[in-house]
Amino acid sequence: MKSLMMQGVQILATGSAVPDSSLSNEEISQIVETSNNWIITRTGIEERRVLTGANKSIIDLAVLASLKALDKISMNASEIDLIILATSSPNDLFGSASQIQAQIKAYNAVAFDLTAACSGFVLAMITASQFLQTGTYKKVLVVGADVLSKWVDWSDRSTCILFGDGAGAMILQACVKLDNQILGFQLNTNGNYCNHLSLSYKEDSYSHSILNIYQGSFKYISMNGKDVYKFAVSQVPLSILKCLNSVNIAIDDIDWLLLHQANHRILKAVADKLSIDNKKIIMNVNKYGNTSAASIPLAFDEALKEGKILQNDLIVISGFGAGLTWGTILVHWKS
Ligand code: ACO
Repeated sequence: MKSLMMQGVQILATGSAVPDSSLSNEEISQIVETSNNWIITRTGIEERRVLTGANKSIIDLAVLASLKALDKISMNASEIDLIILATSSPNDLFGSASQIQAQIKAYNAVAFDLTAACSGFVLAMITASQFLQTGTYKKVLVVGADVLSKWVDWSDRSTCILFGDGAGAMILQACVKLDNQILGFQLNTNGNYCNHLSLSYKEDSYSHSILNIYQGSFKYISMNGKDVYKFAVSQVPLSILKCLNSVNIAIDDIDWLLLHQANHRILKAVADKLSIDNKKIIMNVNKYGNTSAASIPLAFDEALKEGKILQNDLIVISGFGAGLTWGTILVHWKS
């Protein structure tokens, strides 16, 4: 029977997957007019992984990341009640989460997609925790996956150097309040700036001759880099402060700052604004570029594998990106 008591939320396991093919800055310099030095100085990115070959999609990466998380705790996928796939690059606009459900054989789970670009994983974690805290579901698989290599204009040097492909998964479980690991969150959207970063539907200039219906397609990421940079550096610290204030935790108590891996300068500028020691920044943007909804779970999973995150550590997680949407989660790590 469903419990109506408010519950805590526990992180049971994480997993991640990236494509085998890497693309270095030197290789990108063969495609567009750029240089290793320009890319490293402005972004901190040294290489990124890209999904090459025919008939490959986010599902391949998302399924692999999910299976790795399940394997870690020897969980049978049939125990999962809900799957949320955060992605902006689905292989089916009607939703791709059900393909993960089928491939990992999580036949008892309802599955849906959630679109919030680079904030997608944060939004999905919070959405999952609402279902868990109300006792509606007991176990949720949250996946952040994107293959923006399929959506960038490979002749636009201002965007194609930034993105990479990947997937990260996290299994969350309802628990008693004492074991709660998600201490607080804070979310925001400002749609007035949606044009700063978009992958919008473009109508063709002709319509159906009888119906006057215009059809089109989605075409390439467009970004106003400078404004996105200013937005991230000004708004993300405020979100972090609001989140911490809401649960009476001080900046000095934070052990790790895990931001959406967009750009090393953004990560450092946010840490500096909050007087957080740069040693506390979790960063892997150099290896993978900006993997959008995958970047936070990918970095989280790596930090756990590397043994960085220890028992009782407090981790501030912030996502930011298209929408514009941004937000913060405070996690208390208990293994
Ligand atoms: N190689 C060489 N030169 C380049 C390149 C490139 N790849 N791209 C742009 N340039 C040139 C420009 O043409 C410009 O030349 P000009 O001065 O002759 O006009 C010059 O470099 C400076 O261009 P800017 O766009 O002003 O460069 P900026 O210093 O702002 O850096 C960057 C660009 C790295 C994109 C920066 O604005 C940034 O980091 N913005 C944040 C973007 C971001 O993180 N987006 C994703 C976050 S949200 C999400 O994840 C979905």
